[in-house]
Amino acid sequence: MKVLIIGSGGREHALAWKCAACTRVTEVLVAPGNAGTALEPKCRNVEVGAQNIGALVSLAKRESVALTIVGPEAPLVAGVVDAFQAAGLACFGPTRLAARLEGSKAFAKDFLHRHRIPTARSRTFTRLSYDPAWLDTQPLPLVIKASGLAAGKGVIIADSHLEARDAAAAMFEGRFGAAGEEVVVEEFLPGEEVSFIVMADGRHVLPLATSQDHKRRDDGDQGPNTGGMGAYSPAPLVTPELHARIMREVIEPTILGLAADGVPYVGFLYAGLMVAADGVPRVLEFNCRLGDPETQPVLARLRSDLTVLCEAALAERLDATRAEWDPRAALGVVLASGDYPDSVSRGERIEGLDRAADLVRDGSGKVFHAGTKLSGAEVLTDGGRVLCAVGLGRSVSDAQQVAYRLAGAIRWPHMRYRRDIGYRAIARERQR
Ligand code: AMP
Ligand code: GLY
Repeated sequence: MKVLIIGSGGREHALAWKCAACTRVTEVLVAPGNAGTALEPKCRNVEVGAQNIGALVSLAKRESVALTIVGPEAPLVAGVVDAFQAAGLACFGPTRLAARLEGSKAFAKDFLHRHRIPTARSRTFTRLSYDPAWLDTQPLPLVIKASGLAAGKGVIIADSHLEARDAAAAMFEGRFGAAGEEVVVEEFLPGEEVSFIVMADGRHVLPLATSQDHKRRDDGDQGPNTGGMGAYSPAPLVTPELHARIMREVIEPTILGLAADGVPYVGFLYAGLMVAADGVPRVLEFNCRLGDPETQPVLARLRSDLTVLCEAALAERLDATRAEWDPRAALGVVLASGDYPDSVSRGERIEGLDRAADLVRDGSGKVFHAGTKLSGAEVLTDGGRVLCAVGLGRSVSDAQQVAYRLAGAIRWPHMRYRRDIGYRAIARERQR
């Protein structure tokens, strides 16, 4: 069978690599892909943009693609799954209406409050209903969010009421485009963040291995927020008790609530949770897709055939499906451009990829590409997050050593990466 992966990041390289490893898969098309997917055995890049829905449908028809998996949120929110369904093509992901869970924070908050799923208290405003005087009565810090998709930049944590008003005003004035037409104001939740990712078939849920990422750019979780600078799986924070609680209090009510509301959710669902001292897992956000970089370590541990899991979900049979996981831990370090996340330098030659591949010939790791492109035989940087070096080991600590050995083998002029990915998990391992 032929598989199509939509997207061009590290998550999509991991998806393509995992599908290519399935014996029944003859070829994986990646639209548009990156240098990593271009070089991956059994994979072929196709120059079609991830948002060009019409061209993606034509491509899948022309190539007789049996299964399409969508990586990023933008095409999902724009209705790529609806378009594939209308053309009679199998496409794993939520429909446009279900993807509002990520595409509209106002929708997500209303849904969470109505179904009594734990989340921060909040109010949603439009330009007309906005009440700055109410804002001034709220305890600090306050979290101000543009409701629509803002590429991870639409959340401001305000330490003063002035800052909160400025943030809301900037959103209403259009700094985030249409994403800021509605603004969610919510209480600040202290605690530790967890990424909880599942597959859903509309009624049943198959949780993936647990994971955590590091969103801040600099060591010690300092500096600006990014898409993620590194991640690991499993997350020792998520004990079996917490896992059961997240399933019972967050994931199951979400899937059942959406079905009851008439928008069954099929696809990967990512709940960004804040776990506080009281142990309650509260929803910070939903993503209607896999996480990046969480996917890279998570899929590095998946032993089951991913295409079988996706087809089971499309057939509403996830209740009868199990996923097998490598018992080893996996940890991924994102190698980024020097100026990420502020701006993006491109076209720098990456050296050491072959040396890195030699280090993990035994299957103890893998370097996934994100913002890269091929120029002849050379691999050039082409984005903010460039590579993700994943190591596997008996513990998160062992996996971290392999990942940093890989990172140490690679260089380009303005490369930067965090030196402490996994530090919380490693501290927890040492306590045991
Ligand atoms: P979001 O896109 O809603 O996940 O927000 C981006 C990041 O902002 C999250 O990953 C958190 O680190 C932080 N954040 C969002 N909402 C809250 C909140 N209510 N309390 C504390 N931190 C938050
Ligand atoms: N790593 C965070 C995200 O994928 O949204």
